[in-house]
This record gives sequence, structure tokens and C-alpha cells, in this order.
Amino acid sequence: MIFSKQLIKWYLQNKRDLPWRETEDPYLIWLSEIMLQQTRVAQGLPYYEAFVNAFPTVFDLANASEEQVLKLWQGLGYYSRARNLHFTAKYVADQLNGTFPTTYKELLQLKGVGDYTAAAIASFSFKEVVPVVDGNVFRVLSRVFQVETDISSGSAKKEFQELALQLMPVSDPALFNQAIMEFGALQCVPKSPNCEICAFNSICLALKNGKIGQLPVKTKKTKVTNRFFNYLIFEDEAKNTLVQKRTAKGIWHNLYEFPLIETEDDIALEKLIQLCEAQFGAELSIKSVQSLHLGPIRHKLSHQNLSIQFWKININGLLQSGLAFSEVKKLPFPIVIANFIKKDLLH
Ligand code: ADE
Repeated sequence: MIFSKQLIKWYLQNKRDLPWRETEDPYLIWLSEIMLQQTRVAQGLPYYEAFVNAFPTVFDLANASEEQVLKLWQGLGYYSRARNLHFTAKYVADQLNGTFPTTYKELLQLKGVGDYTAAAIASFSFKEVVPVVDGNVFRVLSRVFQVETDISSGSAKKEFQELALQLMPVSDPALFNQAIMEFGALQCVPKSPNCEICAFNSICLALKNGKIGQLPVKTKKTKVTNRFFNYLIFEDEAKNTLVQKRTAKGIWHNLYEFPLIETEDDIALEKLIQLCEAQFGAELSIKSVQSLHLGPIRHKLSHQNLSIQFWKININGLLQSGLAFSEVKKLPFPIVIANFIKKDLLH
């Protein structure tokens, strides 16, 4: 049986019922696909539902504030996706009268929409014959057809797009694209796939040649750096605290945080007191400093391992631009800080 027929047969028997598969509305498809990049379905689904509820149309999303969008995105990570999402919603609402472009090529022009997302929207909403190539697709195709090209190389995407295009039935590109991603997500999984029950076990070249564990080939490993953050939870005599917006490019851009001292390593209380006095001693009268937990909190991001300590700093008098904790919790924070606020600061 030809590859696409077998794949679609498998899909129709095994697919999960997911809300974005019930629609051809490009707004909803776009929203779901941006959310699902680098994110598992189980994690993305509640966010998708919350967004559709809060912003049923692209106009609703366009009219929201960036802070509202980031607050609802809180915990999903890769926050540039949320900022680009909001930017593009405003562009589509204001410049295109709320109508999304209808072709792969035009969709690619939208901010935050790359090859993968443009292909997903073009095929799911407009039936354009254009293949999606994400991590799932790399894995499925590299194994079934034993393609040993390094997927981190510049030319890999093109090679896999061409292979997928050859395999794709022109009569139903949407079904094929959904099917190949679902097959990668459920059956042809990265570690120890159950090839005994696989629909392709009679034709899979990697299985035949004992190469399942080596494919896909990926040589470039992401470089991970270690960082050490000390967050200062000031509290003045009116029980107000200080927060700041991270305006620098890089992680957590435009999210809020407590005043931060970054160090070369985890530090102890005495060192923190010294650093605080040096940095804030001239402006603030520090009454006491204490650690708020036992040992640092480890938080992994795609490119950074963070080691975070929260310190409580009581001060005499009042902070300039101090904010009550009940107001602070309404702002968008990185999830590691939001969890800390919920668990340890607001009892
Ligand atoms: N991951 C990315 N896009 C997806 C989709 N449309 N369905 C399921 N998982 C996905």
C-alpha cells in the first residue's frame, strides 16, 4: 500500500479529538499552531481553550493589551511567540480587515509565522498542497526512508519538504499533514517506539537496518548556559514591594520580575547582604534580609539552566513606586516567579 494511504488509515483509527481539528478558521488554526510549537498537546490545550474563550476573533486578540496576552500565556514559555502573536493579530485586524492571507507564500510574510506554521495554515484552512515539516515529520521520514541527513544542517529542511511533498496526496494535503504529525507524536516517538505494532514495520528502512535509535541524525546540540538569579522581595512598612519589567532582549522580554541580582554562582546570605548594601544601601534603609526557601530553585529553559533564590528584604520607611502584593499578582511573570508568588508570598 502506498505510504500516504497507509498513514491516513492509521490516522483515522488512532487520532486524538482535538478542537483545532474541528475547524478550518485560519485564526483558530494559526493560534493553535503557534501555541503548539515546542509544546506538547497536553500542555497547549488548556491555553488554547483559554485564548479562544478570551479572544474568540482576531479583533478581540488585537484589542487586548500586551499584558493581558502575556498573562494568559504565562507558563507556556517562549514568550516571543505571544508577543508576535499579538503583533500579527493587530496587523491582520487593522491592515487586512481581519482576513488572514490565503496562500503559503503570503502567510510567510506574517511576523512569527515560519515555514511550518505557514504550511499548517495553508493546508488546514485552504487545502494548499504544501507539507508541514516539524520535529515529528523529521523523525518519521528519516526513519521510514532511512534519510541520514543531519537535521540541524541548513539544507535538511528543504530535503525533507521535498520528500514529504512527493508523498503527499494532492487530494487531501490537510489530512496527510495532520496524520504525519500525529504519527510522529503517538507512534514513531523519539525514545523506544513500539515498532512491533507499527503500521510501517514491514517497510521501515531504519527498523530493517537497526537504525531506529540513531535516526534522525542531529549533530548540533543546543548550548546550555547556567545562570544564577537572586530575586529581591522588598517589603516596606506599608507592606508594598517592588517589581520591574524586563525590557532587555532575551529571556522573558516584557514580563515582570522582582529586582534582580545576577551572580556567578549560588550565593549565601552574607554575600547577598553585601551586594544589597552596595546596590541599594544609599537609597534604602535595610532592616533585615532572609532567605525564603531551603536551597535554590532549579528551572530549565531551552538554552539556560537557572538557579534561582528569592530573598525577603524588609526596609524601614516606604518604597518609591511600591506596589501591594495583591496588585503584583495580576501582572505577567515567568512561571517560576508566578508559582513562587502563589505558593510562598500569598498565603
Ligand atoms: N503539533 C503541532 N501541530 C499539531 C496539530 N495540528 N495537531 C497535533 N499536534 C500538533
